[in-house]
Amino acid sequence: MLELYLDTADVEQVARFNECLPVKGVTTNPSILANSGIGLNQVLPVLAKILGSDARFHVQVVSQTVENMVKEARQIAALPYDMVIKVPATELGLAAIKLMKAEAIPVLATAVYSAHQGFLAALCGADYLAPYVNRIDAMGGDGVGVVADLQLLLDRHRLACKILPASFKNTQQALDVLKLGVGAITLPVDVAEQMFGHPAVQPAVDQFTRD
Ligand code: E4P
Repeated sequence: MLELYLDTADVEQVARFNECLPVKGVTTNPSILANSGIGLNQVLPVLAKILGSDARFHVQVVSQTVENMVKEARQIAALPYDMVIKVPATELGLAAIKLMKAEAIPVLATAVYSAHQGFLAALCGADYLAPYVNRIDAMGGDGVGVVADLQLLLDRHRLACKILPASFKNTQQALDVLKLGVGAITLPVDVAEQMFGHPAVQPAVDQFTRD
């Protein structure tokens, strides 16, 4: 079954969407946490209480060396929750991913901008790949095309790795990657809202109520 994540550390929004959607967990990055003004150690227990014991959390390392990335990953993985370590799929990041996987630490390769970059991360053992759909589009690329190529590569090479596309600005981008059969997706709050917030829905319901 598709794993549906929210790309936010806003606890009120997570609680809101958890009421009406099958939310698997939350993805964060250093920018999301910095903007939320609340630290990881404060927000995780609150999110875990909202989402329950099956919730999965994707948290990014911020260290700059392979050794420190692995140390940081061990610390995050030791937290008493279902944690996945986000590692930027750079040259150093790939080296860190290999070492983390040798210790069976769950890993998501993030900041994926091309199919070949993501494919290498999958070969290194990453459990998830996060292609940045809208950021690729915004650079004149084809975000959905990157996801399509990646899904094809994973299928052809029978790699047990899920694509968890990220960075969406509209529902069409989300719909297009869902049509490709990705195993997971993370939606920012505004796009999650747009998914069921078609402007014609409420007037139709109001008309039924009046009638
Ligand atoms: C998730 O892994 C990414 O950090 C995030 O979705 C990027 O989204 P943005 O392009 O809207 O910042």
